[in-house]
Amino acid sequence: MGRERNRSCQLKEFSLARRPTYIKVNLETILDNLKILKTYLAKHTEIIAVVKANAYGHGAVGVSRFLEKHGISHFAVATALEGEELRAAGIHCNIQVLGNASEDEISTLYENRLIPTAANVKFLSSWLRHWRQQQRNTLGVENVGPVGSVVIKVDSGMSRNGCQPGQLRSLVEFCENNNIPIHSIMTHFAQSWDNPDFTQTQMNTFTETVAPYRKRGIKLHVANSGAILNNIGVDLDYVRPGISMYGQPPDTSEFGINTTKKAGLKPAISWYAKTSIVNDLDPGRVVGYDQTYKCTENERIAVIPVGYADGYLRNMFKNGYVSTLDGVVCPVVGRVSMDAITVKLPEEAKECREFILLASDFNDLNSAVAISKIQNTIPYEVCTNIANRVPRLYEFSGDTVTIAGV
Ligand SMILES: Cc1ncc(COP(=O)(O)O)c(C=O)c1O
Repeated sequence: MGRERNRSCQLKEFSLARRPTYIKVNLETILDNLKILKTYLAKHTEIIAVVKANAYGHGAVGVSRFLEKHGISHFAVATALEGEELRAAGIHCNIQVLGNASEDEISTLYENRLIPTAANVKFLSSWLRHWRQQQRNTLGVENVGPVGSVVIKVDSGMSRNGCQPGQLRSLVEFCENNNIPIHSIMTHFAQSWDNPDFTQTQMNTFTETVAPYRKRGIKLHVANSGAILNNIGVDLDYVRPGISMYGQPPDTSEFGINTTKKAGLKPAISWYAKTSIVNDLDPGRVVGYDQTYKCTENERIAVIPVGYADGYLRNMFKNGYVSTLDGVVCPVVGRVSMDAITVKLPEEAKECREFILLASDFNDLNSAVAISKIQNTIPYEVCTNIANRVPRLYEFSGDTVTIAGV
């Protein structure tokens, strides 16, 4: 009975998705993960939900719309165009664009009321010039009116984005002299999950660098997921969780998986697909491009219309598995094509037509962790690789809705 119900829900979901494959995002799980993360934070510390890279593959619009309704008031994306997508979808909250702000993005930042992350005075000058020019063009006024706020980023040791500690003063002074509001000053950690010593060294550099500005009440933030779970920077003004909000571990190490599990975080994403055709093949038949698989007996091979263009990575033909809804394991055989995979159905799954490509747990078979192990990568990459052309469905309180209904 439960099984039949499950299947009929699934069939409904395929029709909602309008494709024989879809990603399902459990929004309740994301909310639960955020509740867990909040227990690590000081009372006044607010969350900047990191929804860059299509919310780590979970669908930036769907996730952000939901979180905005559930009290999140700050989002972070990686590019101005990602911010524009959220504004077009009706997101009103603060949206910070992480990374060193680029002058090429200024008009998109301006038009969408996005908060850039500044790393040098050159950008700040262009930002100011753009705002002044717009005010001159639209209001006919010179050098008056508010300028959009900025986040200033300090490189505390990762040697990637941000100004060097010794340059911070000149950026702050430029903002103060030109009435550019400083939303906050931030840094980012290089190894917050598993290197508390290096993280603490970065934290000390940051704390020392921002001390004069902290006294003046400028807001600060440093913590990504690993830092939050390790209680570093959790009493500042904001934290910026990404991967932990989606319930995935940072990597495939026992340590990463156990830390995630122990915290009670759960993956929110799963990926389903059904067959487009099933073939009974004689021994000796080869399957897929380059004939990498040859049937050794009479075999039932299901074609699932999902390929590497959907983010089902090509290497999966080596050790990849999908599972039936009942948990029967079916190996991916033959090469992964751009738009299809071929799967061998064992006896006990011969009649199955619906499959789980990515399970929302930490299993050894088809979880993001398992796929990361096969691909020699990390769950961040597995999730962000899932292409836009795979429809996202959102589940909350047992109801499944399409993105438009969120
Ligand atoms: C500046 C910044 N803050 C926060 C995050 C979120 O990190 P995580 O997903 O590890 O929580 C990222 C992600 O790369 C980032 O670049």
